[in-house]
Amino acid sequence: MRKTALALLTAAVLVAGCGGGKTAPDASGAKVFASAGCGGCHTLSAAKSKGQTGPDLDQLRPNYGAVVRQVSTGGAGMPSFSGKLNKGQIRDVANYVVDSTKNNSVALTAFQPNHEKLSDCHSDYDCYKQAFGNIAYYDGPETALARLATYMKTNEEVNTGCHQIAHSIGHAGYAHFHDSAALALAHGSMTCWSGYYHGVVERAFAGVPRSKVASLARKMCTGSEINKTYFLLYQCVHGLGHGLMIYSLNDLPYSLKVCNQLATAWDRTSCTGGVFMQNFLPGPMQIAPTKWLSKKDLLYPCDKVAAGDKLYCYLMVTSRVLPVVHYDFRKAAAWCRKAERSWVATCFQSFGRDASGYSVQNPRKIVQLCKLAGSMERECIYGGSRDLTSNDAGPARAIRMCLLAPAATRSYCFYGIGTIVGGFANGSGARRAKCSPVPSAYRRDCYRGAAV
Ligand code: HEC
Repeated sequence: MRKTALALLTAAVLVAGCGGGKTAPDASGAKVFASAGCGGCHTLSAAKSKGQTGPDLDQLRPNYGAVVRQVSTGGAGMPSFSGKLNKGQIRDVANYVVDSTKNNSVALTAFQPNHEKLSDCHSDYDCYKQAFGNIAYYDGPETALARLATYMKTNEEVNTGCHQIAHSIGHAGYAHFHDSAALALAHGSMTCWSGYYHGVVERAFAGVPRSKVASLARKMCTGSEINKTYFLLYQCVHGLGHGLMIYSLNDLPYSLKVCNQLATAWDRTSCTGGVFMQNFLPGPMQIAPTKWLSKKDLLYPCDKVAAGDKLYCYLMVTSRVLPVVHYDFRKAAAWCRKAERSWVATCFQSFGRDASGYSVQNPRKIVQLCKLAGSMERECIYGGSRDLTSNDAGPARAIRMCLLAPAATRSYCFYGIGTIVGGFANGSGARRAKCSPVPSAYRRDCYRGAAV
């Protein structure tokens, strides 16, 4: 058996070797793809096909051998084509599929502006994506993101789809700045879980071969625009982590490896946060299935990754747990208590971050949800205050939350605000000033967080 498989494999490789480009295989491959009806079952943008029965070939990016094998033998719902297509045609269609998808990442095509306006969109999500993108493309991303934040308050469609809309603004913002990732990142905001930054980084990686990704990644978040504040730098390296997963279609070890080649320890861990967050996104927000989840062990892979990657894994892990337990925060708290002992507190910080996200940054609700954390309530409050502050790019709502929180958790809560606002400015005096909205009784906690 082994031998046959090996022989077949060798044959496939040989076929690959001689299936050269001399006879313009792409053109004839495209014909085969159309005439054999592949598009009826598969999505392939090069062929403008939108079939849904089989896997999306744009996302799958199969290699040559896999296409030849699948088309020749069929299986699992796909018919064999060996009786209908000759070897040359199979070779051509395989070359065509490989050539038209090998450089794909989700955002391979640049944002295409048109003249659709927000007022043209009537609860049509694709229309909103386009219209917000248009604003970013013509007027700059800051304008688009500000409009997005306003719309999110009153328009349910926009609010639910805000992350993907912000992605679209990122793609358009990247085009607005003539493909400068650093400039695009410097003029963004975190509106709706940093969707904008993710969109920018996605574009910056589109079509880059794997061999060049690590060096591009190392250079990406450098330069004076990005290094103005820790906050911007964080957005950049965190977005980079998301981008690596998107680029590699959820190859977690690969993405972590690239993160771990960044310049400083801070860059490296912030980048891994983006990787894990991307891994934990709910299914519909994923661009490909991820192998790095377990149905039985909702803390996986945090309990298995290398020690150096654990911090940000646990800081994100409740984003994995909550959708599975249908947002029953009580059950999520039980999972956190099952974490490795030294990471229980971190898991509850994640819990607080998600309490903030789930309540759409509602201070009172965050405080309520954090009660479920029991002895870990303060970690939850801390995670909540940090999320509120960074989501708002300011401390106003987080201050309200800290004042609603139990007295015993308050100074830690204000410390959390400091850890974020400190990143909004550079230089000790400027960082100190960022704490001035904090009530005087707790200003010292904020200073400590901001390292002043
Ligand atoms: C009747 C629907 C149908 C048609 C027609 C069809 N496919 Fe498929 N195809 C499928 C399904 C379903 C799968 C998933 C099989 C699985 O899960 O293993 C698949 C899988 C594949 C794969 C993935 C193989 C892998 O390694 O995972 C490739 C590549 C592929 N098809 C290419 C083609 C090409 C090229 C054609 C045209 C010659 C074609 N398909 C026609 C339904 C179809």
